[in-house]
Amino acid sequence: MDGNGRWAKQRYLPRLAGHRQGLEKLRELVRWCRHDGVQALTVFAFSSENWSRPADEVSGLMGLLARALEREVGELDRAGVRLHFPGDRLALSGELQQQLAQAEQRTAANRGLVLNVCFNYGGRWDVVQAAQQLAARGEPITEASLSGALALAHVPPPDLIIRTGGEQRLSNFLLWQAAYSELYFSAALWPAFDRAEFDAALAAYAQRERRFGRVSEQLSDAPAEPVQPLRAVA
Ligand code: IPE
Ligand code: MG
Repeated sequence: MDGNGRWAKQRYLPRLAGHRQGLEKLRELVRWCRHDGVQALTVFAFSSENWSRPADEVSGLMGLLARALEREVGELDRAGVRLHFPGDRLALSGELQQQLAQAEQRTAANRGLVLNVCFNYGGRWDVVQAAQQLAARGEPITEASLSGALALAHVPPPDLIIRTGGEQRLSNFLLWQAAYSELYFSAALWPAFDRAEFDAALAAYAQRERRFGRVSEQLSDAPAEPVQPLRAVA
């Protein structure tokens, strides 16, 4: 969800106003995904590297998460959304850690959209913490065991990854899971990302041929993985 700061700057507003507008956009995206039957939505809200931003922006983002939890969890729960907050939670305040755990517990039995809000998350962090878990348990490290120990083990790898804000890189998001994801880059700043942009991303996805290492001719008789229709968006 990139571009909040630039969106605010264009309007002579503080960066935090852009983040607030970005949160409103996330509420919309959740509605679109529920409407379209997407099974899992994973968003990058705060990266392991975002701590190096100015202190007031970091505390502003923490406060925004806390207030969003207070306001939104009830409605998300009633809508059948299952919440997860992948990331290194130990670096967050005790109060916030408790709020995150409560939101996950409250929505754990829901069977609608799975909404992963990655917070203090990094793709490298996730691979390392998964390897450390396996090592601590003395388990062999295989692709399957490592996948199963990742913070996002409860959802399939994303079919489609959308990055807004014009940048064309992953910036430490879902490094392991992105191996065969389709990538879509939108020039829209996140608060300005609209339904037409989302539709354009889905339409682009529908045009892609996903070969998973195979050749085109092999796909019709034996699909490599049952990935259609689209299950997961990040
Ligand atoms: C939001 O966009 C990403 C977050 C860390 C919440 P940015 O804050 O990176 O916005 P730009 O890139 O400065 O426009
Ligand atoms: Mg940015």
